[in-house]
Amino acid sequence: MKKPVLGMASLALMGGFLLAESIDPPQAHIDWMKGVAKATGRMKKGEDVENNAKHVAETMAKVGKFYSEKNLPAGVKASNEGVAAANAIAKAAAGGDTAGVQAGMRALGGSCKGCHDVHREKVSDTENKIKW
Ligand code: HEC
Repeated sequence: MKKPVLGMASLALMGGFLLAESIDPPQAHIDWMKGVAKATGRMKKGEDVENNAKHVAETMAKVGKFYSEKNLPAGVKASNEGVAAANAIAKAAAGGDTAGVQAGMRALGGSCKGCHDVHREKVSDTENKIKW
């Protein structure tokens, strides 16, 4: 299972280099990003960690579906990792497992970065595009 996924990811990366296409994100995409940024900000402060983590997991599932429909495997992989990390955080928070929450937060941050490195194009301080 792992190898074909990686193969597809590198194909998509090659496609990105060859086509270097950027599009304006749909409003839903911007809203998802703002929503997860707000929720993770609150989680970092220790505010309502379990519910915010659940919100991130739900949103990341929508993000994953979007990237899956666009056939962008690196985005799908990062989104799936985000869903898994957010679910792990919610579970750890419910069980009072602080170390688990912290480990989950690191994994979650890694999933955001994993997609941003590949698919986010900063146009200005206030505007981003989706790149592939
Ligand atoms: C599957 C890809 C992907 C994942 C996963 C992802 N992002 Fe993004 N993000 C993008 C792309 C592409 C943009 C640029 C387009 C946009 O702004 O919607 C972006 C933009 C943003 C923005 C700027 C939004 C704006 O105002 O335009 C924020 C904030 C953000 N992401 C936060 C996060 C956080 C926090 C996470 C992890 C919890 C995350 N993102 C996970 C792809 C992703």
